[in-house]
Amino acid sequence: MRIKRWIATGAVAIATVGALNTLPASAGRPYNPADQSLRNLGLRHDLYIGTAVDMAALNDAADPRYRELVASQFSTVTAENVMKWESLEPTRGTYDWAPADELLAFAKQNNQRVRGHVLVWQNQLPGWLTTGVEDGSISTEQLRDILRNHITTVVKHFKGRIWQWDVVNEAVSDPWDSPSTLHYKGFWAQHLGPDYIADAFRWARAADPKALLFYNDYNIEAFGSGDPADDKTQFVYDMAKNLLAQRVPIDGVGSQGHLGTQYGNYDTLQVAAALKKFAGLGLATAFTEVDVRSQLTEAVRNGDSNEINPRLQASAANYSVLLQACLADRHCLSFTVWGFTDKHSWVPDWFGNEGMANIYDENYQPKRAYHLMKADLIYAGPPYVLPRIAQKPRR
Ligand code: XIL
Repeated sequence: MRIKRWIATGAVAIATVGALNTLPASAGRPYNPADQSLRNLGLRHDLYIGTAVDMAALNDAADPRYRELVASQFSTVTAENVMKWESLEPTRGTYDWAPADELLAFAKQNNQRVRGHVLVWQNQLPGWLTTGVEDGSISTEQLRDILRNHITTVVKHFKGRIWQWDVVNEAVSDPWDSPSTLHYKGFWAQHLGPDYIADAFRWARAADPKALLFYNDYNIEAFGSGDPADDKTQFVYDMAKNLLAQRVPIDGVGSQGHLGTQYGNYDTLQVAAALKKFAGLGLATAFTEVDVRSQLTEAVRNGDSNEINPRLQASAANYSVLLQACLADRHCLSFTVWGFTDKHSWVPDWFGNEGMANIYDENYQPKRAYHLMKADLIYAGPPYVLPRIAQKPRR
């Protein structure tokens, strides 16, 4: 039955994408799935392929390729910055919805779903908020009201237009933080205590009963020791389990997937096992911010292929690990890359001497990673890869 449905979906998908194919179908060439876009290849598995969108690049008339590729290759988009608190409410009480609404209009026009990013995070908060708390002009009680108000206002504004919300982002510390025992970190935990997480999900649900509500974090691609004192994935798993036990309306866990080729990282089986474990709690999963960066040595900068090729290959292999694992779990709903071209990437700005993290190079040439993603989408099917199971928002 399920297999039948898969074949039916596949047939429909191929029929549809055939029509959308920009290459002349009449050329008499046999159908080649590699000519299809990522978004169309994902469709066969009901898997949404996404990218973060930089609004400045999207609107740059001198850089039309960016816009074309966002529209043609992806079936879901995430605002890279314009839905963050500092962008939406730079001055207390004055919201600037325009750039985010523009992205939503673009998504609608291109038949794309939207991941809302982000409601609660310790970064990119407006100055009035952090200064107010620091100088004592905003009390703890007021801060809680401000947070509730922000979540309610933002979620209501975008109501009906967001598929998945990142409700809480990066709430958990890393083993290199101090103290090294994993804990709830950052501005919100510090000022409100960890209960803000449950509150945030409840407030978001009240404001939009239909959006899927996600917890989102990095370094949770695979389980480690299993001890929540040093295994971040285990910590997040335990957190999600506790939230569910308290009937908190959390629907999914987003794994950001910011990897670097200089690290050991994971293999597909480890990542698939982690996704399965989260699914065992009744949660959906998603890869939400995938990029795989490399160190830019002098030789790399000088174009030395001895150093460039292994980086391109390792980066591609890591994209593939995450994508295959996602394909393997029917509750993994979307696979979003954090920008698709090295031309517009947060990596060099953020990590200094690192880059080459994306699936297209700076001239919009697809890299090995792009082709490997395609191959993963093409050469996957029953019995181990089946279409997604839609997640219902938890009441
Ligand atoms: C990054 C953006 O890409 C940058 O443009 C911005 O300067 C900083 O934030 N985890 C997240 C994202 O959840 O919001 C971050 O995005 C990358 C790390």
